[in-house]
Amino acid sequence: MRGRFPVSRPRRNRLSPAVRSLLAETALEPRHLVLPFFTVPGSGVKREIPSLPGLFHWSVDRLPELVEPALEAGVRAFLLFGLPSRKDERGSSADDPDQPVQRALGFLRGRYPQALLASDVCLCEYTSHGHCGCLAGQEVDNDATLERLASVALSHARAGAHVVAPSDMMDGRVGAIRYALDGAGFSSVGIWSYAAKFASAFYGPFRDAAGSAPEFGDRRGYQLPVSNPREALRDALMDEDEGADLLLVKPAGTSLDIAARLRGRTELPLGGYVVSGEYMMLRCAAGAGALDERRAVLEYHLAVRRAGCDVVVTYLAAEIARWLREEA
Ligand code: PBG
Repeated sequence: MRGRFPVSRPRRNRLSPAVRSLLAETALEPRHLVLPFFTVPGSGVKREIPSLPGLFHWSVDRLPELVEPALEAGVRAFLLFGLPSRKDERGSSADDPDQPVQRALGFLRGRYPQALLASDVCLCEYTSHGHCGCLAGQEVDNDATLERLASVALSHARAGAHVVAPSDMMDGRVGAIRYALDGAGFSSVGIWSYAAKFASAFYGPFRDAAGSAPEFGDRRGYQLPVSNPREALRDALMDEDEGADLLLVKPAGTSLDIAARLRGRTELPLGGYVVSGEYMMLRCAAGAGALDERRAVLEYHLAVRRAGCDVVVTYLAAEIARWLREEA
C-alpha cells in the first residue's frame, strides 16, 4: 500500500477542536500581556490621541477608568509613559517627582497592589530637542546621558515602580541604572531593557502622541540598524551581562527573528513590544474592512509568543484579554 497513501498525515493532529487544543504548542493568555499608556498633567483629562485613535491621554485621577477594566480582563502589568509639563535641554522634568509618571506610580501603587508597574525610562519626551539623551553639539553624549537615566530610574523607583524599562539605547545604561538602584536600596526594582530596539518608522504615531520626535536629525546614532541582526544580538546580550531581568525586542513584528535567536542564547525572559505603528497598521486595515480585526490581532500577537517571547507589550492588551476570555 505504500506509495498509494501518504505515510505521514499531519492533518490527523488537526482534525478536531479537541486534538488541536491538546496539541497547541504556544498560547496567548491575558497573563502574558503588558498594557502601555500615556499619562498627562492636569485633572479630569481623558483625551483621544489624534495619532492613535482608540487610545487616550489620561490624567492621573482618571487612570482607574483604564486600569480597572484591564485588571478585570486579567491584564496585571502596565507600562507607564508620561508627557511632562515642561521640557529643557537636559530633560530635567524626567526625574521630577511632581510629573505625571511619578504621580501615577504613587497613585496606582497605593490603589492596586495586585498590579505590576513598569515605567519607561528615556529622555526624549522630556528634552526640548526630542533626543533620547543629553547633547554634546549635535551628538547624544552617551556617558552624560547615563547619569541622567540613572537619576530618572531612581526617581521612578522612589515613586513606586516595580520595574524600570530603559528605552534610550545608550551603551552601559542597564549597568548604570542597576548600580544606582542598588546603591539607593532599590535592589528589588527590576530592569526590563529594550535590548534590541531598532531605528524604526513604526514609532511615528507614538512620537506624535508623546511629543517626542527629534527636532533635528534622527535616532540612527543610537537605535539599531534594521539590517543588523548580529549587532542586535550583541547589544541585547550585553544587557543581560549588565543585570537586565527581561529583554525586550521592538518593533515586535519586524523583530521575530531576533526574538527567536535570543531565545536560543539566553535563559532570561523575553518580551516583544507591538509598537504604535503596528497598532495603527492592524487598526487601519481592520477599519478599512480588509482584515477581520479580532482574528488578525490575535494571530499577530500569538506569533510574537511563538517566536519565543514570554510577554507581549501591546496597546491592545485589555481588548485581547477580553477576547481571549470570551473564547475560553
Ligand atoms: C522612547 C520610546 C519610544 C517608543 C517607546 N519608548 C519612541 C522612540 O524611540 O522614538 C516607541 C513605542 C511605540 O511606538 O509604541 N524612546
